[in-house]
Amino acid sequence: MDRTPVIVAIGRSAVQRSKKQAFATTHPIEICNQVLRGVLAKVPQLDPNDIEDLVLGCASHVNQCSQNMARLVVQRAELPNTVCGQTINRFCSSGLQAMATCMNAIQAGQGDVYIAGGVESMSLCYGPYPREFQDDWLAERDDEIGGYMPMGITAENVAKKYNISRVEMEELALRSHQLAAKARDEGKLAPSIIPVKVINPQGEEVVVDTDGGILNTSMEKMAKMKTCFVPEEEGGKITAALSSQTSDAAAFAVIMTMDKANELGIKPLAKMLGFATAGLDGRYMGLGPIYAVPKAMKRAGLTIDQMDEIELNEAFASQAIACIRDLHLNMDITNPYGGAMALGHPMGATGIFLTCKMLDYLRDNDKKYGLVTMCIGGGMGAAGVFERLN
Ligand SMILES: CC(C)(COP(=O)(O)OP(=O)(O)OC[C@H]1O[C@@H](n2cnc3c(N)ncnc32)[C@H](O)[C@@H]1OP(=O)(O)O)[C@@H](O)C(=O)NCCC(=O)NCCS
Repeated sequence: MDRTPVIVAIGRSAVQRSKKQAFATTHPIEICNQVLRGVLAKVPQLDPNDIEDLVLGCASHVNQCSQNMARLVVQRAELPNTVCGQTINRFCSSGLQAMATCMNAIQAGQGDVYIAGGVESMSLCYGPYPREFQDDWLAERDDEIGGYMPMGITAENVAKKYNISRVEMEELALRSHQLAAKARDEGKLAPSIIPVKVINPQGEEVVVDTDGGILNTSMEKMAKMKTCFVPEEEGGKITAALSSQTSDAAAFAVIMTMDKANELGIKPLAKMLGFATAGLDGRYMGLGPIYAVPKAMKRAGLTIDQMDEIELNEAFASQAIACIRDLHLNMDITNPYGGAMALGHPMGATGIFLTCKMLDYLRDNDKKYGLVTMCIGGGMGAAGVFERLN
């Protein structure tokens, strides 16, 4: 008997810039519907009646993403009524957490077949959190705790603490756009993308199958940009170029026991060898991977030097640089297909989006071990260590 949880199918929508591109007015449940159908089509041997639960990660589950969105996605995708749905939130790691949660349930013997998903419509469901909804005790101490602190301010805090220059950050942003453009042009990002047909904000029917965030940028263009969170005169450094783009996307993975995959004659794609989350001072939330990665590595019984590919979410250039420095990441294998400054960060979907990119890179290069890690608002980090099987 082998109850090891394995990923047998995975896919994502293309990532679109929020408010500016094709998904800006699309209901996120519809994006989920089309992507989920596309991912399930990769494993036609699977009887949907065998699916136990759909676990959906979403960071801003308000407006169109509210209610128990996971169950609504089950119903929209016309899965059997017996398939349950739970919506979870660990902000930027929600998609990675959804996969870990499914794997935990399998290992606990609570079911054999699960769907993990992640979704975000930053066009329709993302914005500042009003003071009237905040807890007074926390709000009065936000300078010390950072629970409600805008993410851009935490990025400025990290840039200051690590003495990271704006030019160094712009170099990383340029690298991100250049590598993402190269990967797109060479078709490296395409294998995981499920085309999604929508009516765009201009009222035209379009098929979205290409990531929309990549810009033709330069050091000169970036140097001219205004800071977004703290005025330059007051020491601010973070511009839109040095921030992950706000994005819309959805991603799904089918996870089952190794036994079930064997029974259905499905070749598993990957398994997770280690997973960890770690908490830290919310004012420096961007440093989360520095704490989460060593825990996940230890649990996987591997070292970071053994990784063949690393997906470090670029929430902001400052925090990415701090993590690269402290974790001594090898830049030859870190975000080789570009990062979130170029491709976007659709928060709830990011964990599965990065896993798609990681598995595509490992397959392209016939390699084995990959790491997916990100910082998390409120002061956390998450990391997952994977082994590619096919
Ligand atoms: C920083 C932020 C406020 C900027 O918002 P925005 O102004 O709507 O951002 P945009 O992406 O539209 O960029 C603004 C402009 O700069 C341009 N720009 C962005 N990056 C650029 C680059 N590298 N080179 C040249 N121009 C660039 C954009 O093209 C855009 O110009 P346009 O209006 O002509 O299209 C927003 O991206 C943000 O909040 N990001 C972080 C999200 C977050 O916190 N996520 C969770 C992390 S934990």
